[in-house]
Amino acid sequence: EKGGYPDFMLKEIYEQPRVVRDTLAGRLAGGALAIDELGLTLEELNLIDRVYVIACGTSYHAGLVAKNLIEGWARIPCEVEAASEFRYRNPIITTSTLVVAVSQSGETADTLAAIRDARIKGAKVFGITNVVGSPVARESDGVIYTKANKEVAVASTKSFIGQVVSLTLLAMLLGQVKGRLSQAQVRLLFRELGDTVQQIQRILDQQRPAIHDAALACKDASSALFVGRGMGAAISYEGALKLKEVSYLHAEAYAAGEMKHGPIALIEPGFPVIAVATKSPTYDKTVSNLKECEARGASLIVVATEGDKDICAIADHVIYVPAVRDAFSPITATVPLQLLAREVALLRGCDVDQPRNLAKSVTVE
Ligand code: M6R
Repeated sequence: EKGGYPDFMLKEIYEQPRVVRDTLAGRLAGGALAIDELGLTLEELNLIDRVYVIACGTSYHAGLVAKNLIEGWARIPCEVEAASEFRYRNPIITTSTLVVAVSQSGETADTLAAIRDARIKGAKVFGITNVVGSPVARESDGVIYTKANKEVAVASTKSFIGQVVSLTLLAMLLGQVKGRLSQAQVRLLFRELGDTVQQIQRILDQQRPAIHDAALACKDASSALFVGRGMGAAISYEGALKLKEVSYLHAEAYAAGEMKHGPIALIEPGFPVIAVATKSPTYDKTVSNLKECEARGASLIVVATEGDKDICAIADHVIYVPAVRDAFSPITATVPLQLLAREVALLRGCDVDQPRNLAKSVTVE
C-alpha cells in the first residue's frame, strides 16, 4: 500500500507532481479558465466584493496564500480566518460576499459550522475539498476537488499542494471575471503553473541530501524559528506546523520583518532559523533579517532560488528550489519544508504517519 516507500508521508510528498497535474487537467478550455462546478454565474461572480477564506490548520495556511493571490490579481479584499474564530464572531457578510471553505477531509466541525452560518447570512459558499461527496462539498454552492486522492498520513502534504493549486485557479478566475487579468495573462500563468509539475519533481530528485544535512542540524534543538516575507511567510507557517506535528520539536513562524520586535531575543549560538528566501520583491529585506540572525550565531537553513550563490555567505545549509514567479513559490518551496519535517522526525525516532494526539479529521470542536 505504501508503494515501496517507508512511510505514507514520503509516498504522499512524492505524489505531489501528479496532484498538480491532475488538479490542472481540463481547466483551460478555449484559452479561458473553466471552473464549471463553481455553482455561480459570471454575473454573480462579478458582483463579489469581499472574500473570506475559512479553514483550520494546514488548510488555513493554503488560505494565507490565497489572500495574496485574490487581492493581487482580482483586487477583491480577502480575509483569512480560522473557522473556529469566524463562527463565533459576527463577520460582515452580505449577498455579495464569497466564503471559500477549505478542508481536506470535508468534515471538520468548525469549518462546517462556519459554512452553515455564512449561508444563513446570505453569503455564497465555495468549498475546496479532497473528499468527494463530503459534508463541505454537499453544503457549499460549488466545489473544487483537489485531486490529491486519499491522504493517509495525519500530516497533510499533498492535500496542501492541491489546495494551493485550486485556490490559485480560483484567484485567476476572479481576476479574469473582474477584468484585471487578460486572457493572455491567464494563459501564461496557467502554463507556468503547469511547469511546477517538473519543478517539484526536480526538488524531490536533487535536494534530499541537502535536506538531510539540514535535519541533522535541527534534530537536537529544543526550538526552531521559521521566517519569510509575503508568500515566504505563508510557507513558513506551514513549515513550522509540519515540524511541530511530526517531530514534536517546538517551532514558530514569523513574518521576517517581525523578528526585531521580539523573536530575535530567542537567538543564541546554534539556534535553528529556517528561512524561505526565494527570489521575490522582498528578497533583500529578508536577507538583511537573516544577517541579523547570523550575527547572533543562529544556525541558518535557507530555502533559496537555484543560482543564488550569495546566500551561501550567510547560510549554514541551503536548499535550492527552481526559479518560479513569487505567486507560485508556495507550490515549490513548501516541498523541502515537508521533507525537512519528516527527516527531523525520523532522526528523533518519531512515527511520521501517526503523530501522538492528532487525528486525521476533526469532526468535533
Ligand atoms: O480536513 P481539514 O483540512 O479541514 O483539516 C484541517 C486540519 O485539521 C489539518 O490541516 C491539520 O492541521 C493537519 N494535521 C495538518 O497537517
